[in-house]
Amino acid sequence: MKKFIKRALLFVVIIASIYGIGRVIDVSYGSYVFVERQPYMVMQTAKSITIKWQTPKAEIGTLAYGLSPENLNHVLLEEVGSDKHSISIPKLKECTKYFYSVTSPSMSIDNEGRSFSTLCQNADLQRLWVIGDSGDRGAGQATVYNKMLGYIHNDFSQLNMWLLLGDNAYSSGTQKQFNKALFEPYKELVKRFVPWAVTGNHDTRRWAFYDIWNFPTKGESGGVPSGNKYFYSIDNGNLHIVMLDSENPSLDSDGDMANWLRKDLQANTKPWTIVVFHTPPYTDGGHKSDDEYNSGGRMVNMRENFVPIFDEFGVDLVLNGHSHGYERSKLMLNHLGKSNTFDAKKHLVQDNDSCYTKQLKATKNSGTVYVVCGSSSKLDSATLKHPAMPFSHQKMGSLILEVTPTTLTSKFLTVFGTIADEFTINKNNSECKNTKKGK
Ligand SMILES: [Fe+2]
Repeated sequence: MKKFIKRALLFVVIIASIYGIGRVIDVSYGSYVFVERQPYMVMQTAKSITIKWQTPKAEIGTLAYGLSPENLNHVLLEEVGSDKHSISIPKLKECTKYFYSVTSPSMSIDNEGRSFSTLCQNADLQRLWVIGDSGDRGAGQATVYNKMLGYIHNDFSQLNMWLLLGDNAYSSGTQKQFNKALFEPYKELVKRFVPWAVTGNHDTRRWAFYDIWNFPTKGESGGVPSGNKYFYSIDNGNLHIVMLDSENPSLDSDGDMANWLRKDLQANTKPWTIVVFHTPPYTDGGHKSDDEYNSGGRMVNMRENFVPIFDEFGVDLVLNGHSHGYERSKLMLNHLGKSNTFDAKKHLVQDNDSCYTKQLKATKNSGTVYVVCGSSSKLDSATLKHPAMPFSHQKMGSLILEVTPTTLTSKFLTVFGTIADEFTINKNNSECKNTKKGK
């Protein structure tokens, strides 16, 4: 009998080992398998940018850039040949549009319309396109994208930034899936805008995300240096944008990410602060933020440990994905419990529908609007009844943010081309009028 048990145990160990080895090989393959990739941009700063691409053969990469598409009068060459290319362009002018092209002996590069802009100190109007859970290539993704193109009349100069709220490449965030779900369908955007993305739980199934992107951990793009690829911030025009990873680092209130966030927000002087991460503190969509076991408790962790920081520093807007629908709060504060503890009298700073006012200088307990927009390629069937998120739509779509020095307007642009929800935060001392819908 003992012999039998020993043999059975040995069998289980062998099977588990084979599965474990197979799994490591599969994950490593998906994470690091070589794929060809057209040029894309990372590490946008006020004075520099980095262009990356991947060619079928190892070769010296060449990049030309200049202030007009007809005169790309600066040429940079890599020093060492490789099939994975990365060229950083230094000494650029702040807040300036440049044009660029890449040449490769072994791959045909689509250089039509390639341009980039450096980050700005000031801006009159900034328009951002925000997509969440966009990584399922198909008709839905394409239509959501096309409605945005319609909104800007196919004029890319109407757009300033592109934010991605995670789950950027289903189902596992492999190198091949990132090509299929991001670099190919959005190729015209990729030529012109840095894809500022946070990771989602699906992206985190492989390690490609942090291989594809390089992030400004030394404060290169603004904010306090984080020294950690999982979190950093970007200063552009009127915006201070904080990018958090709600999948990998500690989500404790005294963890590295929370401690850095306090320092970063304390030092911030921009008029508008937006915080971006994947798992929402409040959602009654495909994921339930009341459920402490859902998504490994990360929604609860972000609510209990990070909402107090957003409150302390008066963060204006929090953007999340994960649930595949649209949900939006009013200007609210200090709601750390489950949905049945939400009390409008206690948690709402202003009980308006579509207009809120705040002071220009970020102040403690001035309230935050929370938006879940995870329906840019997928849609859940869900109740969408979280009391803190009274504006909800079971529709595919994306967000258009329009920001001036004293106003921030957010529009949910649906797959049907309609604006299903819209709100404005004013910091221009004007009063809100017609604050209830239908009036
Ligand atoms: Fe997700």
